[in-house]
This record gives sequence, C-alpha cells and structure tokens, in this order.
Amino acid sequence: MPRTRQNGYHGGMSLRNQSPSERLTATLAIVALAAFLGGGLAFVAGQERAARAAAPPPPAQSRLMAVLEGVMAPNVSAGEVAVFRTWIQSGATREAYAPVDVVVSNNCASCHSPGGQYPRLTTYEELRPLALEAAGGSIYAMLGARALHLLAFPLVFLVAAFTYLRRAAWTGRRMLMGACAAAVLFDAGQWWLRQGHPGAAWAPWTALGLLAAAYLALAGVVLADLWRGTTASKR
Ligand code: HEC
Repeated sequence: MPRTRQNGYHGGMSLRNQSPSERLTATLAIVALAAFLGGGLAFVAGQERAARAAAPPPPAQSRLMAVLEGVMAPNVSAGEVAVFRTWIQSGATREAYAPVDVVVSNNCASCHSPGGQYPRLTTYEELRPLALEAAGGSIYAMLGARALHLLAFPLVFLVAAFTYLRRAAWTGRRMLMGACAAAVLFDAGQWWLRQGHPGAAWAPWTALGLLAAAYLALAGVVLADLWRGTTASKR
C-alpha cells in the first residue's frame, strides 16, 4: 500500500482509508464531543465565576434551595428551609450567616464534614457558592461539577483518543495522547483537591485552558487525517 507510506507517517494506519460515510461519522462525532466539552467547560467556568463574584444577585432558583427542597428535604424542617431561603434572598452575606450556621451545624455537618459526603458544608465559604449557583435544568446542571470533572471530561477524551486519535496517521499522536491525559489528570486533580472550595484562582482556569487546548489539538489532528489529501488519494 504505497499511498499510506508517506514521509513522516507510519505505514498502513490512517483514518483516511475509511469510506466517505465513515469519515463523515467520525467528523460528526469529533464535533459533537467538542460541543459537549465546550458546553461543560462554559458551565464549569460559570460556576467558578459565581463562586468568586463579590456580590452577584441571588438566583431565581438557587441550587442550595433546590437540594433542600429535593434530595436533602428529609434533613430539614420547613422552618429550617425558611432560614436558608431568607439568607439566600438577602444575598447570602457573611453578616446574615449566623442563623444558617446553626442549622448547618445541627442538620448537615454530621454527613457533610471534612472526609464525609461531598460537598463539604461546614463554613460560610462552602455554603455561599452553592447558595448563589443557579439550579439549572440543563444536562450539565444535572451532571453536576463532580461528574463533569471526574467522569464526563475524561470520557470525552477517552472516546476521542481511543476511537480516532489512536488510528490517525500522525507520528506525534502518542505524545498528544499523553498531553491529553495530563490535561485530564490535572483538571480532575485540582478539582479533587479543592473539593467545592473556590481555592487558588489559577488552578481551575489553567485546567479549563488545558482541556480546551488539548481537545482542539486532538480534533485538529483527527480532522486533518480524515480529510487532508482525500481527493489525491482517489487517483
Ligand atoms: C444523613 C446524611 C446527610 C445529612 C444529614 C445531610 N446530607 Fe446532604 N447529602 C448526603 C448524601 C448521601 C448526598 C449525596 C446524595 C446525592 O447526590 O443524591 C448529599 C448531597 C448533598 C448536596 C449535593 C446535592 C446536589 O445535587 O448538588 C448538597 C448541596 C447537600 N447534600 C446539602 C445538605 C444540607 C444543606 C444539609 C443540611 C440541611 C444536608 N445536606 C444534610 C447526606 C446527607
């Protein structure tokens, strides 16, 4: 097969050898994964900004309220829910936190203390981001930040790398797979270490940047391999 043995390329293997419909499917898959990753990164970036913002307006439906009226409802009375609601509607300030702190210590700390159930809920700094985060109905809100960082983002790279990048006819593909793995591990690691804390500002933004750059490089290599010189190879 002489046409696969071009300069700098390993022989035999290339996504280009697939039929046009297979290449189209691969292209759509790479773009769909990019759209999912992009949406997830935008969602996570929005959460980071909400956690840091000095005085954002309280959201119409706060994630904390949604949780208190949903999965965590058995742990609070109606009166205690009202304490949270009043605090959030007044902007979730440190000054108004005292009554919430009492409820949290009594009703939540037993499970959500350090080393316990995620998210850690023992201080104002830990409650505030949840209070100010909007409870969206989007797929990303359903997945939550933990599932995105630890499951969904790694999965996007795993699928793209093992299904497509691995078979691309570019000699640097193993290095790029390593770089993707490093970006995914960095992102999961920095998230895991922060565990719901806003933490050091550079870490989450670096992680988002690395994930985006790694995927763009991956998509570029795969798409180039799929479509570059396809008319020439038909000869
Ligand atoms: C008996 C143990 C227990 C107590 C007490 C408890 N939780 Fe939870 N909490 C859990 C478990 C287990 C989960 C994970 C459940 C899940 O994700 O479905 C969780 C999940 C959560 C989440 C994340 C859910 C999400 O979808 O984002 C929040 C926020 C939360 N709890 C807040 C609270 C608050 C506030 C209190 C106190 C009013 C509280 N919890 C009391 C066990 C507890």
